[in-house]
Amino acid sequence: MSSTRRQTAVRRILLFALALVTAMSTHLISTGRAEAAPGPSFTNPVVGAPNSADPTLVFHEGFYYYVATTWTSDIVMRRSATVAGLHDAAEQLVFRSGGTGMWAPHLEMIGDRWYLYYSVEQTGGPRRTHVLESSGRDPLGPYTDRGIMDLMPDNGWAIDASLLRLGGNLYMTFSAFSPQDNLQSLYIAPLSNPWTASARGTRISAPTLAWERQDGAVNEGSFALQRGGRTFLTYSASHCNGPNYKLGMLEYRGGDPLLASSWTKQANPIFQRNDAAGVFGPGHHSFFTSPDGSETWIAYHANSSASQGCGTTRTTRVQKISWNADGTPNLGVPVSTTTALPGPSGEAGAAAAPVTLRNRHSKLCLDDRDWATAPGSAVQQWTCGGATVQDWHLTPASNGYYQVRNRHSGLCLDNYNFATTPGSEVRQWTCNGNNAQQWRISAAGEGFSTLANRHSGLCLDNYNFATTPGSEVRQWTCNGNNAQQWSIA
Ligand code: AHR
Repeated sequence: MSSTRRQTAVRRILLFALALVTAMSTHLISTGRAEAAPGPSFTNPVVGAPNSADPTLVFHEGFYYYVATTWTSDIVMRRSATVAGLHDAAEQLVFRSGGTGMWAPHLEMIGDRWYLYYSVEQTGGPRRTHVLESSGRDPLGPYTDRGIMDLMPDNGWAIDASLLRLGGNLYMTFSAFSPQDNLQSLYIAPLSNPWTASARGTRISAPTLAWERQDGAVNEGSFALQRGGRTFLTYSASHCNGPNYKLGMLEYRGGDPLLASSWTKQANPIFQRNDAAGVFGPGHHSFFTSPDGSETWIAYHANSSASQGCGTTRTTRVQKISWNADGTPNLGVPVSTTTALPGPSGEAGAAAAPVTLRNRHSKLCLDDRDWATAPGSAVQQWTCGGATVQDWHLTPASNGYYQVRNRHSGLCLDNYNFATTPGSEVRQWTCNGNNAQQWRISAAGEGFSTLANRHSGLCLDNYNFATTPGSEVRQWTCNGNNAQQWSIA
């Protein structure tokens, strides 16, 4: 090879190496995730006595909606744009049950309707679980009564109902006394629709461990927590009348979820009293996601004295949770009522923290192809690496739709050319707020979501079930399969 050609070859190698180093350094410089932008700070309790035990808190289209035990016949709801605003938010009557002693309302959206599950005492029979259905997408209602759930033999006692979506099916978990040993245990029943159990409950957990039997043997207040395909069923253990009421956890291990053998129980509690912080009997919780989808929070009740019990002294507290390296939730310890906490990320006015969108089938992340910045640029699936091209800001639009903006390009995920046919392209375009750039994020269960375009009605799809980096992302008829399921975290 002549010296000139050798010099050219060396120069090419050096240029390539320089380009490689530059790309790497750019990657490294811009890998850092933006700090989550918190909402207004607050201290606990976020809701004071008396209607403040057994809380359910959900965020929907710009507002939090809060329900809790009222001990009367009424279900009342609070609405606030921030957690900090819950404390002074007015209680709005959403339903008068006709029973007494309303306990533990669970509020959840299925499809385009809200469902409220709660228990009341009624003359002539035991306490049972009732269900309401909203007339539309407004959690405030109005609601119609869908009746009493048939969960235990002989119209038996059943409380603390909450929903579980698993394997494309809907289940109800609840608490009831076992006919075998009279232990108040956790049960699960399959649902044929949100208000009909297709079979009576089967027991999946009894209060057998010592920490479940303090002041009384109890398993109740179950709530599903799902992330990246794993399903945890968290619950309250021991009796609410004492300071040792606490949270435990089951994990679904596959198989028929109606069988106790499909679940394993954590040997130790995951959340319990913190005497140093003056928090006693923490339990009967729910989980909610921050407005920008980047954080998971817990809402629970607790007492401020070890001598208080199951009455109206229990107040609602909230705090952020984290995740252990092994993928299990880390609830930490209940914080004191003097601890000021930053509000959840992305609350009204606070800049949203970015999230990644990881496809369930390919396990690859939605990515701004080639770090492009020009309108019309492509998106792709690429190996998840935390770079800014894989960071997406979710900003609520209206009616449950979101703008999905890339942190590197500043462009929005766009139904290219307002297409409507399956297989149509998805690209990035200057954010303009039109329907082609609005995506409805809906729970698909097990910690995954689907994104449906407001103009086309089609879903964000891992085209042809690809699995290689650089694979295409397009729109396809929403069919709920794994290629259309994305974990948002
Ligand atoms: O707070 C009323 C009842 O007490 C709840 O339904 C139950 O979880 C708790 O034991």
